[in-house]
Amino acid sequence: MKALLALGFLLLSASVQAKVYERCELVRILKISGMSNYNGVSLEDWMCTAQHESNFDTEAINYNSTDQSTDYGIFQINSRYWCNDNKTPRAVNACGIPCSALLQDDITQAIQCAKRIVRDPQGIRAWVAWRTHCQNRDLSGYIRNCGV
Ligand SMILES: *[C@@H]1O[C@H](CO)[C@@H](O)[C@H](O)[C@H]1NC(C)=O
Repeated sequence: MKALLALGFLLLSASVQAKVYERCELVRILKISGMSNYNGVSLEDWMCTAQHESNFDTEAINYNSTDQSTDYGIFQINSRYWCNDNKTPRAVNACGIPCSALLQDDITQAIQCAKRIVRDPQGIRAWVAWRTHCQNRDLSGYIRNCGV
């Protein structure tokens, strides 16, 4: 009985743990999800952006006290424009999803929302991390030896 309880606890802890993607694991998922050159954004650009936004951690959350919005998940998608967290003033929810959907191990919805974001005229420039860490850099290391 004690062993069963311990096992149950272990499984429960495992299920609520953040998933941190391995570099090539993420590269391959982005590739099969059609992110390679989606709206002109390369796999390398997506990888560099995710690295600097979340370190590939699906449960990354950062609150911005300036405008009271929050960034969620592997791409740090913002609650002001893209998702609903029921606490951001004047929020838009253009991706039509709860922000919690952006924290799942399965990043399907985060990818769909990221695609929606880059369809706007500003494209990948929407991500501050891309401008400060990825623009005009050699990004080849982000997909090296991943077989894509
Ligand atoms: C916080 O929000 C302000 C206003 O929207 C913005 O100018 C600033 O870049 C944001 N800070 C971060 C770290 O995202």
